[in-house]
Amino acid sequence: MVEVKKGIYWVGAVDWSARDFHGYYIARGTTYNAYLIVDEKIALVDFVKHGFEDVLIDRIKKIVDPKEIDYLVCNHVEMDHSFALNKMVKIAKDAEVVTNSRAKEHLSLHYDTSNWSFRIVKTGDEISLGSKTLRFIEAPMVHWPDSMFTYVVEDKVLMPNDAFGQHIATSERFADEVPEDIVYEATKDYYANILTHLATQIRRKLEELEKLDIEIIAPSHGLIWRGKEWVEKVVSWYRRWANHESEEYAVVVFDSMWHSTETMAQEIAKGISDKGVKVRVFHLRKTPLSFIMREILEAKAIVVGTSTQHNEMLPSVGAFLTYIKGFRIKNKIATAFGSYGWGGGGVRNVMKELKAMGLETIDPLEIRFVPKEKEKRLCYEFGEKIAEKIKEV
Ligand code: FEO
Repeated sequence: MVEVKKGIYWVGAVDWSARDFHGYYIARGTTYNAYLIVDEKIALVDFVKHGFEDVLIDRIKKIVDPKEIDYLVCNHVEMDHSFALNKMVKIAKDAEVVTNSRAKEHLSLHYDTSNWSFRIVKTGDEISLGSKTLRFIEAPMVHWPDSMFTYVVEDKVLMPNDAFGQHIATSERFADEVPEDIVYEATKDYYANILTHLATQIRRKLEELEKLDIEIIAPSHGLIWRGKEWVEKVVSWYRRWANHESEEYAVVVFDSMWHSTETMAQEIAKGISDKGVKVRVFHLRKTPLSFIMREILEAKAIVVGTSTQHNEMLPSVGAFLTYIKGFRIKNKIATAFGSYGWGGGGVRNVMKELKAMGLETIDPLEIRFVPKEKEKRLCYEFGEKIAEKIKEV
């Protein structure tokens, strides 16, 4: 356990081996953070995932007897947090489960809650622990309808569960103990793959948080943001992403059957780059979708390449489009390219999907079979055209 502030302890678990978070590839593992607040009354805020319950309980035992806990505060029902709550209610038999009404319903749809003693809270409600006060702030859709933040008033500590988290396993507990470029990349990766589609709710919540005096943000995954400088830093990153701000670069993604579409991708990337616009190129069968989504977050353009197989796009391209569609990305231009043999269809169907996402599109580029010098030139010029469009917007 680690003392976050006097009387507030991190009692979570580090999952060094996690790489697959319900399909989202997490290169650096993760943590499930839980916080024990010891005062005249004792509260446990947030819990851990299946398999880590004993880690949580052992850490609590170093500070207090888990049976003595008075309040089990459930900020969010997703099972990476709520699983150990199901165990804690059996240990801390007299504890009240403190949560909002949506979370109560969601908990009942995960576990047998018929014997649980609930205390339902809403925004602004408070519970006094003695010298410390817990204040609750409902945060629907940051990440689920049941999400809620807990604020320890006297200590100015915000526990916002998933918000401001990162999937990163470390022995250090605070963001200021890890190189900033690693912290930034982990925070951006997490935002891109968990929260991108919730920008409207996040913007609203950021406005609300401006009225709070926050010295520490203690999320439910990854590192804790300690001190005003770090709090302001992560809030400014979130503001930028939630406002869909972008940088002048393009992301080219493709899959290719016999390297023709791959050759096209390389020539298009050259055309973009030679016009002075940065570009990142990803082969869809060699790169986790979460890496690509992180790069898309701040890109000005998405360029999608596919060969045609059975009059359709390649399956990896379909998976990519399905993945990004859910994130409701905005303020980007998009187009498609690819090689086909006779009937075509792959590029046409990619364009349909890009238009259905509401993105501004540029006419696509298709060639038949293998690109020769003339077709390579067309690809290069297509890249130049994309770069010019990026500079216009
Ligand atoms: Fe970390 Fe939405 O759960």
